[in-house]
Amino acid sequence: MRDLDRVINRKGTNSVKWDALNIFFGKDDLIPLWVADMDFPAPDEVTEALIERAKHPVYGYSILDDRYYHSIINWFSKKHKWNIEKDWIVYTPGVVPAINWLIQSLTEAGDKIIIQEPVYHPFKESIKLNDRIPVINELRLQDDNYLMDFESLEACIDDKVKLLILCNPHNPVGRVWTKEELENLGRICLKHNILVISDEIHGDLTYKGHNHIPYSSISEEFANNSVVCTAPTKTFNLAGLQCPNIIIPNETLRDKFNDIINKQHIQTATPFGIVGVQAAYENGENWLQEVMEYIEGNLEYMINFFKENIPEIKVIKPQGTYLAWLDFTALNIPRKELNHILIDKAKVALNDGYMFGKSGENFQRINIACPRLILEEGLKRMEKQFRM
Ligand SMILES: Cc1ncc(COP(=O)(O)O)c(C=O)c1O
Repeated sequence: MRDLDRVINRKGTNSVKWDALNIFFGKDDLIPLWVADMDFPAPDEVTEALIERAKHPVYGYSILDDRYYHSIINWFSKKHKWNIEKDWIVYTPGVVPAINWLIQSLTEAGDKIIIQEPVYHPFKESIKLNDRIPVINELRLQDDNYLMDFESLEACIDDKVKLLILCNPHNPVGRVWTKEELENLGRICLKHNILVISDEIHGDLTYKGHNHIPYSSISEEFANNSVVCTAPTKTFNLAGLQCPNIIIPNETLRDKFNDIINKQHIQTATPFGIVGVQAAYENGENWLQEVMEYIEGNLEYMINFFKENIPEIKVIKPQGTYLAWLDFTALNIPRKELNHILIDKAKVALNDGYMFGKSGENFQRINIACPRLILEEGLKRMEKQFRM
């Protein structure tokens, strides 16, 4: 067993989560439970492969070879029963850059793009920055569970809607969408000629009893009408290696995307990105299982902690991702005041739910992919401020 309880000092490593607290929160002495990376060491197999590569002291331009592509193909085939072809895979240095280039290549200025808030905030930013119009179909909160609202989805579609960006699993609410939900969504999108970008960066991070379904794996019709963004970066804690892979089964869509990619002169991953992808997908499965069990333990711990100590703060239990959505509504504290208490008094760094959309008001997002000790400290600091 790996020692996931071990606290690793990340300060001074150019970590956004730990070293940029002052920039984003105006304070350094916060427990950082915000940016979506883990405080656990990456799999040993990845570290060893990177060291081995670093020992070769020439870090020149690199190409993607068969081993790189097969590591991806094998992972998705084994883990998600999804058969990807080599030609469908396009390397990009980030999922968010890829989403921007997809917006540019698959839509025109003035087109409308649907997102389902509360959702990962760069979706809306990317739509706006590219002069497209975001259309918000709010998720529906029902019995502490978020659902897609298919009626309101159909109601907000008109001729200008060309694209829908799906978050599967959904950051920040933690839903792992079921096959039935994805099929319902897909039927509506096909009926109205709306392309789907499915951001599946959290797709490997599911809890017991929940099964991630890659959107394009559902049927040939769905595959032809969609793009799936994948990466080993959240799964194996390799965000700094910048090595996502965008899967585009439809050749016409792929050509359009490649055209934009080529215009940016993005050709290949870094030598370390390549080695990281291969080592993680080839040898990371056991690590992932242990880490997810540990995180699920953190989740149970947190749910019980709030129940026993601050029942006014409700955890919307995630089915996947290592993020959890905390409902502060019952405390009835205005947003500004709530952030002030969290940051200046409790000294914890969470993500204000409002950044994920208006419906995120009264919520905060917490990242629980850390040693239990760090989570405990963060929760105890909150208890001091909010315990009635
Ligand atoms: C849904 C989602 N997409 C994309 C990203 C970021 O991807 P990248 O760092 O590859 O741009 C994140 C990171 O939190 C995320 O949650």
